Amino acid sequence: MSVFGTRPEAIKMCPLVKVLEATEGIESVVCLTGQHKEMLQQVIDIFGTKVKYNLNIMKPRQTLTTITSSILEKIEPVLIEEKPDIVLVHGDTTTSFVVALAAFYQQIPVGHVEAGLRTYDKYSPFPEEMNRCLTGRIAELHFAPTENNKNNLLREGINKNIFVTGNTVIDAFQTTVKEDYKFKEKALENVDLKNKKCILMTAHRRENLGQPLENICNAVKRIVEKYEDIEVVYPVHLNPAVQEVAHRVLDGVDRVHLVAPLDVEDMHNIMDRSFLVMTDSGGLQEEAPACGVPVLVLRTETERPEAVQAGTVKVVGVDEEVIFNEAVNLIDNKSEYEKMAHAVNPYGDGHASERIATYIENWFKGE
Ligand code: UD1
Ligand code: UDP
Repeated sequence: MSVFGTRPEAIKMCPLVKVLEATEGIESVVCLTGQHKEMLQQVIDIFGTKVKYNLNIMKPRQTLTTITSSILEKIEPVLIEEKPDIVLVHGDTTTSFVVALAAFYQQIPVGHVEAGLRTYDKYSPFPEEMNRCLTGRIAELHFAPTENNKNNLLREGINKNIFVTGNTVIDAFQTTVKEDYKFKEKALENVDLKNKKCILMTAHRRENLGQPLENICNAVKRIVEKYEDIEVVYPVHLNPAVQEVAHRVLDGVDRVHLVAPLDVEDMHNIMDRSFLVMTDSGGLQEEAPACGVPVLVLRTETERPEAVQAGTVKVVGVDEEVIFNEAVNLIDNKSEYEKMAHAVNPYGDGHASERIATYIENWFKGE
């Protein structure tokens, strides 16, 4: 049983579910927690994933406590009814941790997809760092995207059933980007991708809500005011705390396109055509380097050092002046830009899902 509940988990689990469904000897069942609603459904629709259960727990402005308690209560009867031989969870959301905990309470083994990412800062990203550490303690099988992720687990004394698989995001990514792609979101037709440089930005992390998000938006406003040939596409996360700041600071600013969350096909294709990505997202730090687009990370740390080491991702923090200056440096300085704008893909070859399915089959066979 694969259980997930937010947009990024769905983008990274749906390709795996497809492979599991096609694997003889495995019966694959999907349960959504519904931690996200519209942003989750967009992904399910694109991948055409069959869903058997949806716990539908999302509430506007939900808190960590309400997400935790609703999932824990609502998943128990599903686990008791379905009696899965293994539960698969993904990454570091509250869905991942709570579902792992609920499976543990039923003594059902857990497989952790995207295991071993760490910042070693308990409060950043919050609560994701602790979510993934706790999920890792519970899990029986650990599917680590990179060797570096595997080494993190080994250092924590987890030394059994760690498989390096690549990241399933690359599996998803390979099917979405097309040269002759036509955008579904009408607002993207107004973006002058031919004559202007497009900056794609996203921001949603809990630790960035409030002043850091204000700083980010103010920096972006200054960037478009300084350069007439820059356009910004900002698909705004549905969290009301994000919507409020984004619209207050950026509504009506020339060449800033505030749009609703894009479906994953629009998102990957606009990313592929962008000059620069500015983001606090985890997933975008894996995707943009794969298409040769530099990334400025609007956080003080990252659990994804691979592309930083390769030089295409830079962690710049959440200070307005620093964000502005870092972007200016890339816009003004061609050689600095070229240094960052080369394609690197430390996250696999697009076959991570197949590897995970094979490891699960072998584990069932006791191999
Ligand atoms: C969650 C995850 C985060 C992940 C992110 C991906 C936790 C604690 N956080 O954060 O790790 O990076 O998803 O996007 O697990 N909302 C809607 N419709 C939707 C989705 C969200 O209206 O489809 C609004 C609701 O008001 C909701 C709020 O956004 O209460 C926040 O959602 P929540 O899942 O709590 O936090 P995220 O910031 O999305
Ligand atoms: N994404 C999307 N539409 C958007 C914004 C993001 O499809 O409007 C995709 C993005 O390409 C990536 C994933 O959602 O695959 C990242 O999700 P998010 O930033 O919400 O979460 P994180 O990766 O930080 O956990």
